[in-house]
Amino acid sequence: MLIAHISDPHVAGPGKKAYNIAPTAENLARCVEHINRLEPRPQVVLVTGDITSSGAAAEAENAAQILQGLRFPFYLVPGNHDRRETLWAVFGGQACPSRSAGFISYAIPGYDLHLIGLDSTAPGAPGGKIDPQRADWLDEQLARCAAKPTVLFMHHPPVKCGVLETDEDGFEGVALLGKVIARHAHVQRILCGHIHLEAHAAWQGTVVSTAPSTGMQLVLDLTMTQPSAFVLEAPGYQLHYWTPERHLVSHTVYVRDVDGPYLFEEYPEEKGEPK
Ligand SMILES: [Fe+2]
Ligand SMILES: [Fe+2]
Repeated sequence: MLIAHISDPHVAGPGKKAYNIAPTAENLARCVEHINRLEPRPQVVLVTGDITSSGAAAEAENAAQILQGLRFPFYLVPGNHDRRETLWAVFGGQACPSRSAGFISYAIPGYDLHLIGLDSTAPGAPGGKIDPQRADWLDEQLARCAAKPTVLFMHHPPVKCGVLETDEDGFEGVALLGKVIARHAHVQRILCGHIHLEAHAAWQGTVVSTAPSTGMQLVLDLTMTQPSAFVLEAPGYQLHYWTPERHLVSHTVYVRDVDGPYLFEEYPEEKGEPK
């Protein structure tokens, strides 16, 4: 099974740029086109939040128009830049197949990996939040699919990644979520976004991965002393490959022009003098 994973498109309104400078709609369209040409084909595309720049309906509709160009089914969960109700109005029933008590959380059966989308947002706050209601829902969902390897996808990573802006955002109820995850050994991975950088960390018996943004990347500053900043570079997304040996292997793809490919057989390594 192959999953394409898009995060943080931050799409602005038609003809607009995010922060008046980032061509986020154009970047998302480039990723969609790239994913459509993949061989082997992904079975599904997951979008881990911050679909919109500011939560406006026009932005969600603009994003929908681009994402509907995908040749594969796609599913999304909200990020802190989105508004739940707006996403539900634009994507509900298809890319957000169902809701649980007002949260955009749902399970997607039918693939080799069981997929669970978890709404980690708190309206008006930039950080993550899992309350007892969502923790209980997740616990029940995971208990139901205990025999099947499972991938959870949500916006906020439940670990601090050494990124000033998003670490400061915090994650309320993270210990609650951790207890649920630790109880279910079949969680192969927790796919996230939010930090606009690729990162991986072992956590509660599974692995948390964040995808780069399709819109704009954050400047990596592990000193955590500089003001937060973003750069405009190639849009990135991830491919998560569930191998025949049942390992979930992740690759990051940047959509940009490169010099090559050069075939090794046409460019043999120069042999040094024998010693
Ligand atoms: Fe974001
Ligand atoms: Fe975010």
